[in-house]
Amino acid sequence: MIRINEHYLKLQASYLFSDIAKRVAAFQKAHPGKEVIKLGIGDVTRPLPPACIQAFHKAVDEMADGATFRGYGPEQGYDFLREKIAKEDFQARGADVADDEIFVSDGAKCDNGNVQEIFATDITVAIPDPTYPVYLDTNVMAGRTGAFSEGRYGNVVYLECTRATGFIPALPREKVDLIYLCFPNNPTGGTITKAQLKQWVDYARAQKAIILFDAAYETFIRDEALPHSIFEIEGAREVAIEFRSFSKQAGFTGTRCAYTVVPKACTAYTAAGEPRPVHALWLRRHTTKFNGVSYPVQRAAEAVYSPAGRVQCRELIDYYLRNAALIRDEMTALGYDCIGGDHSPYIWVNGKQDSWEFFDRLLEKANVVCTPGVGFGRCGAGYIRISAFNDYEKVQRAMERIRRTLK
Ligand code: MLT
Repeated sequence: MIRINEHYLKLQASYLFSDIAKRVAAFQKAHPGKEVIKLGIGDVTRPLPPACIQAFHKAVDEMADGATFRGYGPEQGYDFLREKIAKEDFQARGADVADDEIFVSDGAKCDNGNVQEIFATDITVAIPDPTYPVYLDTNVMAGRTGAFSEGRYGNVVYLECTRATGFIPALPREKVDLIYLCFPNNPTGGTITKAQLKQWVDYARAQKAIILFDAAYETFIRDEALPHSIFEIEGAREVAIEFRSFSKQAGFTGTRCAYTVVPKACTAYTAAGEPRPVHALWLRRHTTKFNGVSYPVQRAAEAVYSPAGRVQCRELIDYYLRNAALIRDEMTALGYDCIGGDHSPYIWVNGKQDSWEFFDRLLEKANVVCTPGVGFGRCGAGYIRISAFNDYEKVQRAMERIRRTLK
């Protein structure tokens, strides 16, 4: 008899954003004449930067010619892209990362979700609350957690991020092995300083733990004192893996390109305590289960680092940051306590009421979609997340409607 992985039965009915999409679709079906403005899932709306489009077209033309056609590429990504990433995103900031420590992939969501499988199932995982649901759900699927009860899974160390902690998790009191951190944070939009991140690196070194550092939103950082990468912190190479994405920085959510940095020094241990390089495990996993991002997409990603691409990507992020400032100012003027939106596309709003009720109110009365904070964890109860990813005119219209609804 074929049997299922029963850990899946512990999961909540559906993935947060699928759940929201279903509710929004039901609302739209019931009110076909209403314009719904989506500030929910962090999906970009602006077109790809012209430099990326140009490189994309050129690469597609190469695929149309027998002399330049390419079949399978290297699973870890083409050298032309890995070299640019290592040099421009890390070495230029003083972070010691080499080309062959970069693994190009089709998304940070996939990498964040897949990485846990190279670690033992009986380790202790520490996950922020609130959190991007992928970190938690993939550990549930792998069987590392207990059952779900009162908004929490058993056997998980939840790192509470609240107004009282400045939306930064405190170091856990119990011993943990795998730690998820995300900065600039999804969903709160909070940031971490180098000194605070150093405490986590020192903790991981002392505990022989590993930090999974999700930096998918680093391109929104506008304060140069903030770390863009965990590898700007001394000692991180032994204890950290970092995830980056072209999705938000260059509008690639529909094009798919991201990368993961696994330093050769990063070490995990066998049950007998023997050290093993994580790089070799991830290389084995990646080459076995993945066949590489398409050549034209990698050429388009490479163009992000061209002089024109840099200017265009900066303009793209500035565009969304202008939306974020508008959302934050409006919500603050309405009397809501907000964080995020300054180095992040997300504004975390204390709605002072049940998150789903607030979500329904905004959907039904203002026809605006946000994300209920409780969907990111128990500490998100009472909050909503508003995303700045949309066209400025729509954000203006959404905020006018929200103002009328909430006044
Ligand atoms: C979000 O809304 O949290 C993001 O879209 C998630 C993602 O990038 O997968």
